[in-house]
Amino acid sequence: MSAPVRVGVVGLGTVGSGVVRLLVESADHITRHAGRPIVVERAVVKDVAKERSVPVPGGKISSDIRDISQDPAISVAVLLVGGLEPARSMMIELLEHGKDVVTANKALLAEHGPELFELARKLGRSIAFEAAVAGGIPIVAAIGECLAANRIESIRGILNGTSNFILTRMEEDGADYADVLKLAQAKGFAEADPSMDVDGTDATQKLAILAHLAFGVWVPWAEISRTGIDGLDLDLLKYAGELGYRIRLVAVASRSDGRLAMRVAPALVRIGTPLAETRGAYNAVSIVGDAVGRMFFHGLGAGQMPTASAVVADIIDTVVGRAAITFRTTGVLESDTPAAKISDTAVLERHFLRIRVKDQLGVLSKITGTLGEHGISIASVIQHDVSGSSDAGVPLVIMTHACDSSAVQKAVAAIDTSDVVRGKSVCLSVLEE
Ligand code: HSE
Repeated sequence: MSAPVRVGVVGLGTVGSGVVRLLVESADHITRHAGRPIVVERAVVKDVAKERSVPVPGGKISSDIRDISQDPAISVAVLLVGGLEPARSMMIELLEHGKDVVTANKALLAEHGPELFELARKLGRSIAFEAAVAGGIPIVAAIGECLAANRIESIRGILNGTSNFILTRMEEDGADYADVLKLAQAKGFAEADPSMDVDGTDATQKLAILAHLAFGVWVPWAEISRTGIDGLDLDLLKYAGELGYRIRLVAVASRSDGRLAMRVAPALVRIGTPLAETRGAYNAVSIVGDAVGRMFFHGLGAGQMPTASAVVADIIDTVVGRAAITFRTTGVLESDTPAAKISDTAVLERHFLRIRVKDQLGVLSKITGTLGEHGISIASVIQHDVSGSSDAGVPLVIMTHACDSSAVQKAVAAIDTSDVVRGKSVCLSVLEE
């Protein structure tokens, strides 16, 4: 048996503790896969005094990154600190001191990927990041390696476990948005700043990383059109259900005329389709490749052990040398990677509108008239009898026939200026498969 490989873990939050637990509890199994024992030599954390649910073997825990970067016994560093700084400086420090790095930090890679990957390449090191996207689903390896023979045509996915957990609890239990968000935080799904989960930032950064792997272009994530679930309410979910749909936060990227059509937004997905049946903290990714056709991946996208599963697989890959080969040969995030030309998705889709209107004579014809003027044809309308309702208006729910999303956005903007409309209307795309 070869000598043990010593790893340093930076960050012992939800995922870091899970990684230590897995490396300790599944040591025999992991040793078989790695061909040698993998030992946690040290952990570096912000607050050494904090009580830990999982003890670091040997008890070596400190707060200075140099205790890992400058320890010659440690060859692999596991960077499980979220956000941009100090994570970026730590990654540079680790690489410059000869450590191969495994990370789950998608914000860091989406923002500074080219710079960090170039540095790692220059120094002959590797960065492995399976856990950065879709938690336990091995989607980075699937796109980067297993589907390498394909020209990827499209990616469609549920990439944020917290948002999906919130939507599912609201739709199944009628739970209150704020209460479920707290529960998602308690369960360790949400980011330190959960607004990144619910405003779509987290899913957008993950989509940018996947699109880079799939389409070979650098995608500045902030240029992707992004809407979160924070503007949704229980009524919208109920109306969607009445029409045979669920609402999911869906990330979409597809090739279209030399551009990448991309967006992250809540959308209606038909009940019975795989995306609609993706519940709780599960993620799902549907990919179309020209040779393989459509593939569907489903698994836990957030949470301690699913994410630790991906991190530990990367540690094993790094230890056996697979990560270095992949890193060198796939040309991931090379500095001369062209930037993507991004557009909003411009396909013809049905749209779901919820407009709050004054309950008075002629309102319906006014709204449908405006839609007609913009070339939007109506498939169905729901207006329940809620007489006696207040200034907030009564909800009018409209399902359109397939139409251009920019036309429907313009129509909704015009509708919202009307004096019979109360508040801002909601317009969601409808994904039929
Ligand atoms: N906060 C993320 C999510 C998990 O809810 O999906 C880590 O990516």
